[in-house]
Amino acid sequence: MAWIHGCIGLYFWLRLKPFFKWASPYFLAVAVLLPPLAMLGAHHGARDVIRIASPQWRAEHVRGISSEQRSLIDKIAFVYFPIGYIGLIGLVFAARGVRTLRERRGGMITVTYPDRRVRVPKGLSVLEASLRFNVPHASVCGGRARCSTCRVRVVSDRRALPRPSGREAFVLARVGASADPAIRLACQLRPHTDVAVIPILPPNVGADFVRNRHSINIGEERYIVSMFVDMRGSTTLAEARLPFDIVFLINRFLGAASQAVIDAGGQPNQYVGDGMLALFGLSVDPATACRQAMSAAANVAANVEYMNHQFAAELREPIQFGIGIHGGEAIIGDIGFRDHTVFTAIGDTVNVAARLQDMTKTLNCTIIVSEEVCNTSGIAPDALTRINVSIRGRDAPMTVRTAADPTVLSSLLDPRAAPLAAESQIS
Ligand code: FES
Repeated sequence: MAWIHGCIGLYFWLRLKPFFKWASPYFLAVAVLLPPLAMLGAHHGARDVIRIASPQWRAEHVRGISSEQRSLIDKIAFVYFPIGYIGLIGLVFAARGVRTLRERRGGMITVTYPDRRVRVPKGLSVLEASLRFNVPHASVCGGRARCSTCRVRVVSDRRALPRPSGREAFVLARVGASADPAIRLACQLRPHTDVAVIPILPPNVGADFVRNRHSINIGEERYIVSMFVDMRGSTTLAEARLPFDIVFLINRFLGAASQAVIDAGGQPNQYVGDGMLALFGLSVDPATACRQAMSAAANVAANVEYMNHQFAAELREPIQFGIGIHGGEAIIGDIGFRDHTVFTAIGDTVNVAARLQDMTKTLNCTIIVSEEVCNTSGIAPDALTRINVSIRGRDAPMTVRTAADPTVLSSLLDPRAAPLAAESQIS
C-alpha cells in the first residue's frame, strides 16, 4: 500500500515533465516489478536460512514463545485489532460529520458556473467546489498549483476575493496570464463571498496539454496576417466522380497549400470544405509575417502547379484557386466548447482576408493582397496591379494589389530582408 501510494504521488508529479511521455513505460516497469522482485528476494533469503540452519543452530538461536505470549498475540489479532480497525472507520465518518457541521457554521457561499450554481462552505477552493458537485473541471496536477489547467475567469466582483498567493501568481505568470487579474487558479482561489467563474480550459485536457502548451490561449490581441486559400470549381470536379476521388483531390490540394504555408513559416489554422485559413505572425514580427504570407502564396501556386502536372491525365482542367491576404490586429485564442475547442484568430483582419479571397472570382485574378501587407512586407510600391475595392461592412474603399500568378510574389520580396521562416521571436 505504501508503494502504491508513493507511485501515485510520483505519477502526479512526473507526468507534467517533458520527458514523461517517453520515460513512462520504464517508470511503469519499475513500479510493477520492484515489489514482486523484493518479495522474491525475501522469500529466497528465508529459504536459504532454513536450508543452511542446522537443528543445533536453531535450538540455540530460535526461541519459541510461551503460552501466555501466544494467547496475548491471539487476543491482539482477533479482538483488539478488529475493534480498533472498526473504531477507526467509525471515526472517519464521525470526523466527516464534524467537518460538515463546522463548515455550515462558518457560512455558505454560492459559486456560479456558466451552467449551474452550487452552495458550498466558505473556505473551500473553487476546484473543491467543482469536484464536490461533479462540475466538470480540468485539474491535471490534482490541485497542487503546478499545471494551471484549472484556471478560471472570474466574472463577478473581484474586490472581495483574496489576492493570489505567491505560488498562484508564479504559475499564472508562467502561462502568461498574470496581466489579467480576472484569471485565477481554481485550486488556489478560496472565496469568502459569492463568486461567478467560467472554467477556461475544457475539462478533459490532460497532461499532454500541459507538456506541449506552455502559453495560454485565453485571448490575446496581436498583429496577424491571415491568408485564405480556396479551391475553385470543386463542384464541377465532383461531377462524374466517386466521392472517394473528390475527397482525395481536395485533400491533395489542401496538403499542397498547407505544406506551402509551413515551408514559409506560417501555420495552417482551419479547414472549411475545400478552403483553408492560414495564420502568420504568431511568433514573429509584422514585417516577417507579411513576407512569410507573400512567400507562402507563391509556394501554394508552385505546389498546385506541380499537383496539376501530376494529375494531368485525371483532370479535365487544371485545379484553380483563389488567395486573399490581409494583415492587422486580430484576437487569437482557443474558441469552441469543451473538447471542440480550436485555436484561431477572429476579427476584421480575418474577415477582410476572406472577402479578398472571394473577390478574386469577380476581379478575375488568383491573388489579392491588401496594400497594408504589401507595404509592411517591403515590396516595391509599383509592383503588382493596384486598385481600390469596396469591402462589405467597411465604409471607405480599400486599396489592394492583385496578381494573376502568385509565383511572381517571391521575386518581389527583397532577399536581403530578414529570412522568411526566421525565428524572430517577439515577446
Ligand atoms: S489543478 Fe493544477 S494548478 Fe490547479
